[in-house]
Amino acid sequence: MLFAALKETAPHEKRVALTPDVAKKLIEFGHQVSIESDAGKESGYPNGMYEKVGCSVEKDKEALLKKIDFLLTVNSLPEEDVAKLSKNSHMIGMLKPHQNASLLKKLAKHKVTSFSLELTPRITRAQSMDVLSSQSNLAGYKAVIDGAYEFGRALPLMMTAAGTIPAARILILGAGVAGLQAIATARRLGAIVSAYDVRAAAKEQVESLGATFVSVEMVEAGEGTGGYAKEMSDAYKKAQEDKLKEVLKSQDIVITTAQIPGKPAPVLITEAMVKTMKVGSVIIDLASESGGNCASTEHGKTQVKHGVKIVGPANMPSRIATDASQLYAKNILSFLKNLMNKEGTNLDINWQDEIVLATCLTHDGAIVHANFKEQN
Ligand code: NAI
Repeated sequence: MLFAALKETAPHEKRVALTPDVAKKLIEFGHQVSIESDAGKESGYPNGMYEKVGCSVEKDKEALLKKIDFLLTVNSLPEEDVAKLSKNSHMIGMLKPHQNASLLKKLAKHKVTSFSLELTPRITRAQSMDVLSSQSNLAGYKAVIDGAYEFGRALPLMMTAAGTIPAARILILGAGVAGLQAIATARRLGAIVSAYDVRAAAKEQVESLGATFVSVEMVEAGEGTGGYAKEMSDAYKKAQEDKLKEVLKSQDIVITTAQIPGKPAPVLITEAMVKTMKVGSVIIDLASESGGNCASTEHGKTQVKHGVKIVGPANMPSRIATDASQLYAKNILSFLKNLMNKEGTNLDINWQDEIVLATCLTHDGAIVHANFKEQN
């Protein structure tokens, strides 16, 4: 089988779905592997690294598309290119099926079997395939680094002959995968860290990383399904707002990561709250793509409002593209192994497997995923 990755075409995307390491593994299994020329260039993997492991580098994208058995992508292939894939080929990537109804139809029409990795269930067996976790983890780390860069002061306490610099205060809103990594990173850089989440389990995790948990004076379970959060009641939101209003006044950097699956991100910082924050403080809003946790965030922009720098990163994992690609490609390799026989030489898909059922969008000319079937 021929496995291949193309140069990503989405704006702000520097990642590549196939790294030389993973290409090497697939070649060892006995497969052919190709990349479009310069597919890995932006993420720090030049053509030569692929050639060295036996992967072919193709300049002619159209010719490559026709030959591919398994297309590995970060974002979906542009819709106009789907028809160029051969019938019964496969595509694996973060295909965003909720936002891409016409893509699903095209994939089905052209008999492409497609898998959307962000639908991977959060079960132990699928942890090594969990692209949301691998990419969020790096995004959480990078958010703190970017926050430190944007902030005009130092993070750790420094006692010098010329005077003392106090430690910066960093608040993390949303203590999931990205938030916990942000806490760990901010602690390593010497900041005083506090964090808040609606899920009760987060308290212990926050405290185990040496941060203070911000508690809201009202008890309401924040757990939804699959380990994710649910939307909170209006009464809780009011109690949350009162608490955050008080805490935000003393913060230097705020990293927001709160998300609710399938819904816009909850607004945790209103413009009125931004006004009460310290001049020179920084907000890095990792939820900006789904609307933002700060009402003043503009996706893809950095702006200063009321003296506060507010950053809405366009694609945070892509800002750390070498590592993000490395982990993503390893996630894909684990996913592929689950679709193959023990030796990795042939496809052996168990169509009743929980991971396959949760991720397979189209197969054999139809939309097969339970959540999107009605679009057939
Ligand atoms: P996410 O990206 O959907 O959300 C980020 C965080 O925002 C979550 O912790 C959520 O509770 C929080 N949040 C939502 N609404 C909020 C609000 N109004 N105020 C404050 N915080 C709010 O979630 P993520 O980070 O992808 O994962 C959440 C949890 O899922 C993890 O902490 C973990 O327990 C679990 N998980 C399990 C895995 C597995 O079993 N394989 C893999 C990864 C995560």
